[in-house]
Amino acid sequence: MIVQSENLLLAKIQNDFIGLDTVYTLADGRKTLRVYLDSTASTLMMGAAHDMLEEFFEHYANSHSLLHFSAKITTSQYDWAHQRILSFLGADPEEYTCFFTGSGTTAGINRLARVFRDYRKDKDVVLVSIMEHHSNDLPHRKHADEVVHIPLKSHSSGQPGSLDKESLEENLKKYRDRVNYVAVTGISNVTGIINPIYDIAELAHDYGALVLIDGAQMAAHMPVQMSGHSNSSRNIDAFVFSGHKTYVPGSPGAVLCRKDILMAIEPEELGGGMVEDVFVDRYIIKDYFPDREEAGTPNIPGAIALAAAIEVLDRVGVENIFREEGILVDDAMERMKKNSDLIIYGETNSKKCSRAGSISFNIKGMHHGLVAAVLNDYFNIAVRNECFCAHPYVKELILDDMLDAITDIPDEEIEAKYKLLAGMVRVSFGIYNQPEDVDALSNALQEIVSRKDEFIKLYHVDENGNYVHNTFKMEKENNFSIPDLLDEYLNVK
Ligand SMILES: Cc1ncc(COP(=O)(O)O)c(C=O)c1O
Repeated sequence: MIVQSENLLLAKIQNDFIGLDTVYTLADGRKTLRVYLDSTASTLMMGAAHDMLEEFFEHYANSHSLLHFSAKITTSQYDWAHQRILSFLGADPEEYTCFFTGSGTTAGINRLARVFRDYRKDKDVVLVSIMEHHSNDLPHRKHADEVVHIPLKSHSSGQPGSLDKESLEENLKKYRDRVNYVAVTGISNVTGIINPIYDIAELAHDYGALVLIDGAQMAAHMPVQMSGHSNSSRNIDAFVFSGHKTYVPGSPGAVLCRKDILMAIEPEELGGGMVEDVFVDRYIIKDYFPDREEAGTPNIPGAIALAAAIEVLDRVGVENIFREEGILVDDAMERMKKNSDLIIYGETNSKKCSRAGSISFNIKGMHHGLVAAVLNDYFNIAVRNECFCAHPYVKELILDDMLDAITDIPDEEIEAKYKLLAGMVRVSFGIYNQPEDVDALSNALQEIVSRKDEFIKLYHVDENGNYVHNTFKMEKENNFSIPDLLDEYLNVK
């Protein structure tokens, strides 16, 4: 039950995002509000975080400067950002540090792949799931000798669910002394399926492996408790997430990691700010966090705005956000399931397999690129299509589906045909989405199905393989240009 004040705060916050009023002109000439269903790629910006950032800019300075007022304010707020994020993710600050990295989760996971490699040089195997985003797969392939992809649990419906714990255990046994760590996503960016991260941690730790959670899709959508479990083997060793998926575009990636692991090796990145002293023949690295892990001038405004957004999420209560978003996702899925022209990927029984954030699907007889283009051009619904940087997972989901559907084609032709069709449409939700957005989606999908042949004729495929409307030009109808705006701002014309 949501406490009244949290309920009110949630309602207030839901309407306080930049871009909720964005209007575009559609292919049929109507001007409508955009329905943003692409939060799994990047969320909209939280108004509170934006406003706090504007206030902060009055004081902005470099956190490596020490004695002037602005430097002191900047340093104190930047320190606060680290502490805020540690407590948001239930990480004991005595045991864990938080540091910021360049390009989102990708930078953080690349860093940790190097850290874990150097921390336990004798362990050369990494276990990941088959549902990983490339960012939680390729860095491990680069830095470990062997990466094993753990399959997913198969449900009675024949649809895959979350990571198969039995198979994980078999592989932990098989590679016993060689497994350095298990790296899995908390929530899939394709299907929204939630992995049992604490069970996975317990299993990994039982076999002497560490556990790294790709939290890109988790941090903003469901509560996380990294440490303090009564059974400490359920604690998470490292967790990474992206600010731009946590309601603050332009903010950095955040890494939370056990300090003892980081302390055991030289930091992977060196430069200013993380050294105590430097001589021509040696240097002395700081022995405290997060400075030790943050070489160079960090993205201070981004980190502070991210912490402000997280403070708001915490005040609303992430468990409330999880519940409210869950209602929307379940409703969207139930309505999509009723449309027999839709194929929804992954187990769709939410009692057996819970999801958060995303649903991916195809419309039978329509290319995913065409569906995404029509949703945009005729319904002003912003979605993502293709393979979502998770090619092995998408291939597996689609191939299974094709194998079921195609029984009269030889195996070697299936791969060729698959290449033509590979991809899906993904709708994804954030704190600002409302039941009306699900209505808009559901109605649009029904209309697209019923006017399928008509829409197919309105589009052609361009030289880059994209579906383009035969007559409607986005550039003409919905122009946005910074140089033009600057001309106006600077009074040039
Ligand atoms: C599950 C998952 N992991 C990693 C990433 C990479 O995040 P970023 O682009 O912020 O580096 C994404 C981005 O979509 C993701 O969804």
